[in-house]
Amino acid sequence: MKHLLSAADLDLDTATAVLDTAAELKATLLGREVRKLPTLRGRTVITMFYENSTRTRVSFEIAGKWMSADVINVSASGSSVNKGESLRDTALTLSAAGADCVIVRHPASGAAHRLSGWLGHTGTGVINAGDGTHEHPTQALLDAATLRERLGDLRGRRIGIVGDILHSRVARSNVHLLTTLGAEVVLVAPPTLVPAGVEAWKVPVSYNLDAELPGLDAVMLLRVQAERMHGGFFPSAREYSIAYGLNENRMKLLPEHAVVLHPGPMLRGMEISSAVADSERAAIVDQVSNGVHVRMAVLYHLLVGEGNAL
Ligand code: CP
Repeated sequence: MKHLLSAADLDLDTATAVLDTAAELKATLLGREVRKLPTLRGRTVITMFYENSTRTRVSFEIAGKWMSADVINVSASGSSVNKGESLRDTALTLSAAGADCVIVRHPASGAAHRLSGWLGHTGTGVINAGDGTHEHPTQALLDAATLRERLGDLRGRRIGIVGDILHSRVARSNVHLLTTLGAEVVLVAPPTLVPAGVEAWKVPVSYNLDAELPGLDAVMLLRVQAERMHGGFFPSAREYSIAYGLNENRMKLLPEHAVVLHPGPMLRGMEISSAVADSERAAIVDQVSNGVHVRMAVLYHLLVGEGNAL
């Protein structure tokens, strides 16, 4: 693995290897006072975030630091991007400065893929930390890691992805990865928040959350991305929460063992009530901590390679 651009790039063996490495790292570091491994000593990892982030950026930085890499954060607002420098020139500059890997978040779908082409001759790896409405592969990996912890083997498990599918890079990456891992996925959304051409995703679509909940082993709620809604007939916050918000009453429709996920940031009171978000059924805090171990595992597989010591 040289780059991680899409969850579709992960076949079953590779995805399982990354998830197993993440679980091993978590077990190794659990309860340690000093959470530091020498694995990436001498390697330089640069994060380039052209869009806001809390979880992804922080967990990549912690992941690199816990593996002893030198981690440098570049944001659009504090760099020469603000003077008009292009993504290509910025990436080539960071590569020439010594980056072994760049981790990019960008509002344009396909940005990480373009970057991997521009850097192809340099040996610098690219990790997609979210490109527009396209993909967010490490989010899917941390979601799968969390589901494996709670449910075990995901083969035959039914996972509902609920909400703003239209603008969600998390949904597309999860459909790729969860189906690769053998789970069944159903997308649940208001009709105006389902993308055109969703048939190509090859998973069922439902508009009725209450009808789906009793058959689910996990429900993944998505944030309604108001910042990407320009025109169109989208439901109001009140309409959305009445039909698709997961509250305590609606949660009773889920089987006892079913898990509630949310990639964050959450809009409490809209797609999820506080009572659900803070309940035992919700694995949202676990998702965040698993994000660090999954991103450590991805850096390891990209920069060191399987078979070498962690
Ligand atoms: N889930 C996620 O990508 O969160 P951030 O935008 O905070 O990184």
